[in-house]
Amino acid sequence: MKTKHSFVHVFFTLSILWGLAKPDPHPLQDYCVADNSKAQHSLHMNGAPCINPTRATASHFTTSALSKPGNTDANIFGFNVTLANIANLPGLNTMGLTMARVDLAPDGLVPPHAHPRASEVTICLQGTLLVGFVDTSFRMFSQHLRPGEAFVFPKGLIHFLYNIERKSPAVAVSGLSSQNPGAQLTPAALFRSKPNIPDEILTKAFQVTEQEIVRIRRNLGG
Ligand SMILES: *[C@@H]1O[C@H](CO)[C@@H](O)[C@H](O)[C@H]1NC(C)=O
Repeated sequence: MKTKHSFVHVFFTLSILWGLAKPDPHPLQDYCVADNSKAQHSLHMNGAPCINPTRATASHFTTSALSKPGNTDANIFGFNVTLANIANLPGLNTMGLTMARVDLAPDGLVPPHAHPRASEVTICLQGTLLVGFVDTSFRMFSQHLRPGEAFVFPKGLIHFLYNIERKSPAVAVSGLSSQNPGAQLTPAALFRSKPNIPDEILTKAFQVTEQEIVRIRRNLGG
């Protein structure tokens, strides 16, 4: 009886873990062009509802959103991410994909961040990037990328992209394995959350003084 009970327990634990590791659900149709017409859907669902498939056209599967550079001036780190997602490319709905154009100013940085729901593959189109991620054993994997070279950031792991050139901008394009990857920027998550993480947590976590925490918050614009 006891063995059977633990078997059931293990089975359920495994199925829960398996569920967490899964990518976006597989589509049940050829496509499900996102119906972005209704600002507020009364129905809350996992993804967006589809338009009538007979109304689908090539334009639903096309976007020029990534053709223009993002403005990197307003950002303290010197980066700008432009997304192609179901808002501007409604054909992506249910496909488990997002694209991102990353523009980096000279010396610009996409600070350490993680995507809880997606792995990411990045190709450098222009400039020289230093990219890397840290795994759960705290090993750091990093690489310099020249145009045409690509790198993969495993799902959920903290990673960064840095333009090492001091005089020229850099451009990269990423594919992400979810239509809603989510992005948790580590500096913002730790120092600019609302409400703030209590100072005594951060002073202990980083082994610094309260003044230093205040200074980091201020430098990050918090
Ligand atoms: C990114 O660039 C776009 C297009 O230039 C701009 O509208 C937007 O404000 C920029 N975002 C940030 C965070 O600077």
